[in-house]
Amino acid sequence: MNYSINSTKDYHIKHMNTLGWELTVCNALYREDTPIRKILDRNDSFGHLLYDYLRVCLPMNNVKKVVEIGGGYGYLMKDFMDKNSAIESLMIDISPFLLKKQEEILSGYKVLLRQEDFLETDPDLLSGVDLAIMNENLGDFPTIVEISQKIFKATSTDAIDSHEKEVVNLFERYGFKKPFEGFFNFNMGAILAVEKLCSSGIPYIYIGEHSCEAQVPDMFKHFVSIESSGNPEKISLMGHNEYTIKFSFIEQVAKKHGYTSIRGNFIDFIKINITEDLLFAMLSKGRLSDDGEMICQFVEDLFKYEYLILSKENG
Ligand SMILES: C[S@@+](CC[C@H](N)C(=O)[O-])C[C@H]1O[C@@H](n2cnc3c(N)ncnc32)[C@H](O)[C@@H]1O
Repeated sequence: MNYSINSTKDYHIKHMNTLGWELTVCNALYREDTPIRKILDRNDSFGHLLYDYLRVCLPMNNVKKVVEIGGGYGYLMKDFMDKNSAIESLMIDISPFLLKKQEEILSGYKVLLRQEDFLETDPDLLSGVDLAIMNENLGDFPTIVEISQKIFKATSTDAIDSHEKEVVNLFERYGFKKPFEGFFNFNMGAILAVEKLCSSGIPYIYIGEHSCEAQVPDMFKHFVSIESSGNPEKISLMGHNEYTIKFSFIEQVAKKHGYTSIRGNFIDFIKINITEDLLFAMLSKGRLSDDGEMICQFVEDLFKYEYLILSKENG
């Protein structure tokens, strides 16, 4: 057994006391006076921009019960409930600190809060849910790190341990492409979380996260470049590490459960104006000012983060 398991559970339950260190795209856009808003085509918050994008793809007017897993400060859900007053939300979060923040920001709204690891949530709670939201949190779920591809060649199942067997089983169940050689990282927790959502038959699911497979669309290649290894990569943060997500596997899980999918980068719904100033900030890698550095990182994130909109309209 030469692999390790990256878990953020302890950190989120016992030590999480700010999201400031891992400025999410959602939080980066929340303050109306942030310089980042100035580069947007439409000056608005993440939740409003996402809601309006989902409205184009999904019948949002019929959406009443929404579950959000890992809602952070609750900003996205507040935006959704301001856009659609019929929404009743269920917020499931592992962090007592962040649930307290959600309780504050969502006070006065129809909301139920539950503190638990979503992997342990009773699936019955998901019945009747119209839409599930998981934004920027799949990377927090347990990742199997540096596992050998030799597990696929074990001649007897006794030769591998229970985690390795679970990895082999998930590869078989979903027909994931096996690596030819060496070691790889596997988003086991993320896959189990999405499997849980899909098994519950929730008609619509939105997932957004830092991807290890993101590509810059041709029309933006003169302006930004990012690297994607295809293997989930470690991101070191205050007190814990996360891993980027292999979206093709997540999409395969959803398809196996009968979902259709729309996949893209955050830039699809967070549109920016490419002015000369922005071009200059990007080409100088934001080195010339603090605002430039923040904007440069934000713009790169719009390409590094992917989303999936999953629909299962016919049962
Ligand atoms: C990086 S924050 C993202 C917050 C918010 N969605 C946003 O985009 O700003 C990750 C969130 O997922 C929650 N989380 C992490 N692991 C979880 C788990 N196993 N079950 C439920 N929530 C989890 C964290 O407590 C936190 O609220």
